[in-house]
Amino acid sequence: MHRSVMLDEVIEYLNIKPRAKIIDATLNGGGHAQGILEKYPDVKILGIEWDPDIFQEFQSAIRNSELANRIVAVNESYTELKKIIEEQDFQPDGIIFDLGVSSMHYERSGRGFTFMKDEPLDMRFNPQSVSQTAADIVNSSSPEELERILNEYGEEKLSPQIVKGIIQARKEKPIINTSELVEVIENSVPGWYRHKKIHPATKTFQALRIAVNNELDNVEKGVLAAIDVLNSGGRLIVISFHGLEDKIVREIFKHKAKEGIVRRVIGGTVKPRWEEVRQNPRARSAKMKIVEKI
Ligand SMILES: C[S@@+](CC[C@H](N)C(=O)[O-])C[C@H]1O[C@@H](n2cnc3c(N)ncnc32)[C@H](O)[C@@H]1O
Repeated sequence: MHRSVMLDEVIEYLNIKPRAKIIDATLNGGGHAQGILEKYPDVKILGIEWDPDIFQEFQSAIRNSELANRIVAVNESYTELKKIIEEQDFQPDGIIFDLGVSSMHYERSGRGFTFMKDEPLDMRFNPQSVSQTAADIVNSSSPEELERILNEYGEEKLSPQIVKGIIQARKEKPIINTSELVEVIENSVPGWYRHKKIHPATKTFQALRIAVNNELDNVEKGVLAAIDVLNSGGRLIVISFHGLEDKIVREIFKHKAKEGIVRRVIGGTVKPRWEEVRQNPRARSAKMKIVEKI
């Protein structure tokens, strides 16, 4: 079963008032949204989901639910937040971002998010609006660009070896499936690296996904727009899973607090409780930050 990360903390820190309007900027299966709607019978939610397959699944699942009349979902990127709230005439009192990839991407998307399955090396959250696939990046980027991606987005220490392997392999034939990339990585790294606890392809796959979807730019755009559109007294919660995302959020919150636009609800970061991490290992690296619009 899918578990929403830090649901209790999301509900607590959103500080929801009667008849509040809340935006779930990363709807997915609607776990957080549903938790909020069930607890607050007069709250309305606008959900944003970029992935067309996940969006369709959500729409079908919610259709016959009694919650359906209190939630509207749109299939867009949260970077379009301003346009979306104008179109939907939805002025938010709270916004939640739960960043990154979901279990659905790994388990059912067929788009190559995981090295555990042999699928086309795609990794686009939204194939209609993103033109470059992971295979495009792997087969066409310069060695320097590939190294930057692996270093910056994957913190992959063996990036020189892996990039060398990719360049050699793609001279013979393009790398188009996940299994081909995994094989290249396994053949490029030394034995000790292949036998570590994490799979040697983990960081390369993460880095490619972030690059394909332009995830760090999106986070910056989305969070800045969210601060702009929030009602005074409204709360913004961001849950991130990657150090770079967390850093972007921290910097934005710091600047906006200095400018007197937001105030920090808590000084640093809220981490999931150990009971949650025990039940849901994905929660392990979650970091939650919260501000309130002044
Ligand atoms: C970790 S999941 C969210 C899980 C959700 N909070 C829940 O409780 O079910 C992140 C979701 O954000 C979506 N996403 C990623 N980038 C996005 C973007 N730029 N705009 C909107 N949704 C995005 C992903 O497709 C994924 O479904």
